[in-house]
Amino acid sequence: MTADDSRRPWLVGVTGASGTPYAAALLRGLLDAGEAVDLMLSQAARLTLLDETGHSVRDRHWRTDVAAWIGRDGPAMRYWSASDLAAGPSSGSYPTKGMIIAPATTSSVAAIATGATRNLIHRAADVTLKERRRLVLLLRETPFRLSTLDNLRSLAAEGAVVMPACPAFYAGARDIDQLVDFMAGRVLDLCGVHHDLYRRWTGTLGPAAGTELWEAGAGRS
Ligand SMILES: Cc1cc2nc3c(=O)[nH]c(=O)nc-3n(C[C@H](O)[C@H](O)[C@H](O)COP(=O)(O)O)c2cc1C
Repeated sequence: MTADDSRRPWLVGVTGASGTPYAAALLRGLLDAGEAVDLMLSQAARLTLLDETGHSVRDRHWRTDVAAWIGRDGPAMRYWSASDLAAGPSSGSYPTKGMIIAPATTSSVAAIATGATRNLIHRAADVTLKERRRLVLLLRETPFRLSTLDNLRSLAAEGAVVMPACPAFYAGARDIDQLVDFMAGRVLDLCGVHHDLYRRWTGTLGPAAGTELWEAGAGRS
């Protein structure tokens, strides 16, 4: 066994939906938890990333570009061009812990659901499903058309976790970064990765605790 055989990264695919800050928060969370990461960006993701954050990621300069984007660097991260269909993650024999696509487009969801893979992200998701590994799809679209709902139903039936990017407000978020971190934290929860990105629900309400409304609903006294 070589040293590389023991490396079991999370594959992270970024596709061209709005929500590239989710990808950055997720990557920071994985790296801060000591996880290895293999990153892939679709062509459309480069466009949304540039438009939403002003950051470009170029294949040949990915290390400096990604470091500038997410504020993290280091040997735990590897990068594959989404057009490289011979890359490691295109084979089930390449060891991984699973895959997260964040944000996920309806277009990539359709390609993965039907198996009509067009790039490395789709192929790696295909492989993740066939190898029965964890696949989390942080989808960003609203509203959904019927074909998207059908694709999501089919993927959920195969074991993928379909996770619309719907941040909650119960954790006391005060700004956009905290809402983004909430979603990234919920993804990491599903992957069993430790983090401290949001305040968990403890069963105790805030200002509503102890009011008549609360007592009537919860039956607590
Ligand atoms: C600025 C911008 C925002 C977009 N936002 C979304 C989105 O939120 N959800 C989505 O499914 N597609 C969105 N799209 C469309 C996708 O980028 C497009 O369908 C693309 O072909 C997806 O390719 P990919 O899945 O390979 O990344 C957006 C496109 C642009 C230019």
